[in-house]
Amino acid sequence: MSKLFSPLSLGDITFKNRIFVSPMCQYSADDGVPNDWHFVHLGSRAVGGAALVMAEATAVSAKGRISPKDTGLWNEKQKEAFRPIVDFIHKQGSVAGIQLAHAGRKASTKVPWEGSGKIDNGWTPDAPSSVAFSEDYPMPKELTYEGMKEIEENYISSTSLAKEAGFKVIELHMAHGYLMHEFLSPFSNQRKDEYGGSLENRMRFPLQVAKRIRALWKNPLFVRISATDWAPSGGWDLDQSVVFAKELKKIGIDLIDCSSGGTLTKATIPMGPGYQVPFSATIRKEAGIATGAVGLIDNPKQAESIIEKGEADAIFMAREFLRDPYFPLHAAKELGVKVEWPVQYHRAIN
Ligand SMILES: Cc1cc2nc3c(=O)[nH]c(=O)nc-3n(C[C@H](O)[C@H](O)[C@H](O)COP(=O)(O)O)c2cc1C
Repeated sequence: MSKLFSPLSLGDITFKNRIFVSPMCQYSADDGVPNDWHFVHLGSRAVGGAALVMAEATAVSAKGRISPKDTGLWNEKQKEAFRPIVDFIHKQGSVAGIQLAHAGRKASTKVPWEGSGKIDNGWTPDAPSSVAFSEDYPMPKELTYEGMKEIEENYISSTSLAKEAGFKVIELHMAHGYLMHEFLSPFSNQRKDEYGGSLENRMRFPLQVAKRIRALWKNPLFVRISATDWAPSGGWDLDQSVVFAKELKKIGIDLIDCSSGGTLTKATIPMGPGYQVPFSATIRKEAGIATGAVGLIDNPKQAESIIEKGEADAIFMAREFLRDPYFPLHAAKELGVKVEWPVQYHRAIN
């Protein structure tokens, strides 16, 4: 019996297998509004049999976008544009999720295929401290209490819009050096008030926002973290991630999606197959919470073994899904598991 193809229940939602589409920015929206590209991109992964299709890092405010081409969820037009995408995903038997994000000091930058660093005529990003990510990134403005309150309310309002659009999972993006991770990491958080300094203080704003959302959102709520900054010392690391995961569990978060990095421009990262899986395994064991593993997981046997060994409850896959939107259908065949194909494609089953 394949564990990868066994269902997973979190709250009232049952995922038909453990293969999740990891959020992937497409940098293809205007004014934050998703379009045909997003419909086909997300829809085809649902046709391909993924249990969860997570829409990309979607900004909770215009200022929270990484680039002007990010999707957003702060108005009715964006919500209405997401709705048919969500409906289509659900019609395929997949669950539609959305990653809510604020880019913090990494906002107002170019789309990747136009280079890197700040855009011309951009905006001043908000961040815990006025410390730029690098020389070619914009210098952010330190958030005031009013600014933090506004961002918290942006998250609340995006959560309501996500609910109205029909999403069944929200993932809070607290990884990759964006706003919430910036609060967690001492490299980007140099505040002297109760939101900076000790671990308890650095966790305060992310936990405050997550708690408010949890009270409003009854469906599965995930948090993506960077389990480490990959700094030899002085940064965010796995031990702090375990403490943070325990706090997230206390407030009722359903799953921690375990990624890494994004705070430092020059970190030595030992990349290799499944290199972030140990973070998922440790957090799952030490914090006693469901986890997702992500990063260089690209074949069925590898994914099966991670679930089988109890290193994660689900596998988030990004680039392999870009190469093969039908990965779950192909993986099932390789593992000898019978899964439903879309009726329109039955003649291709062999
Ligand atoms: C095109 C692309 C866009 C991405 N955008 C996001 C994003 O919106 N949010 C996020 O948390 N990670 C994002 N990532 C990171 C992936 O979700 C994933 O964590 C990473 O690619 C490692 O998984 P992989 O080896 O399966 O690709 C992106 C990755 C790619 C390739």
